[in-house]
Amino acid sequence: MKKVVALFGSPHKNGVTYKLLNEFLISFDKTDFDVETVSVFEENVAPCIDCASCKSSYGCVLKQNKELFRMIEQADYIIMAVPVYLLSMPAPLKALFDRFQQYYNAHCYLNLVQPIKKPKRAFLILTAGSGSSEGANIMIRQAELAFSVMNTKIGGSFVLKDTDKLGDDEMQQALKEIKIKAEELITEA
Ligand SMILES: Cc1cc2nc3c(=O)[nH]c(=O)nc-3n(C[C@H](O)[C@H](O)[C@H](O)COP(=O)(O)O)c2cc1C
Repeated sequence: MKKVVALFGSPHKNGVTYKLLNEFLISFDKTDFDVETVSVFEENVAPCIDCASCKSSYGCVLKQNKELFRMIEQADYIIMAVPVYLLSMPAPLKALFDRFQQYYNAHCYLNLVQPIKKPKRAFLILTAGSGSSEGANIMIRQAELAFSVMNTKIGGSFVLKDTDKLGDDEMQQALKEIKIKAEELITEA
């Protein structure tokens, strides 16, 4: 049974980002995949305070969100579904990504080449209100950097732009396309 952790990064439970994530996850059959969706806005992720403790011993000393990091470390797939906020990710997701510094410091200071044992594939579902790809590209770079020391290869991404003026036909088309992306991700593994 493969573990899938979906990091849902929007506050809207029925917004466009949620609908895309939901359609994407349908392809992960319950007989083969154990899927857990985490609403990152509800996790109250404590920010990294750069205490530098993870430079001298492995892991983050903050007590908060330990279960979330355990889930991420044990996942086979990390699916991120996130809207662009100010050319980047929303604050709760950014707090989570800053806490990934524990893996970067383990790699650089503790000489652990890949601190996380289990290899993973990630997929990014990104939405933007405008027609610009700038914010999505920045998030892809952020994910590439963080995942490079998390034993995680990005297996693809799906960017839906212009969501602030999205018509029904465009939404239906996006749902069809994202379903194909999910099937590709599953079959390529
Ligand atoms: C605080 C905030 C900042 C935003 N910044 C951007 C931005 O920089 N670029 C952009 O294209 N859209 C931006 N948007 C629009 C959202 O990315 C867009 O509405 C998104 O599709 C919302 O998805 P959701 O309703 O599923 O959460 C912003 C929205 C908010 C609330």
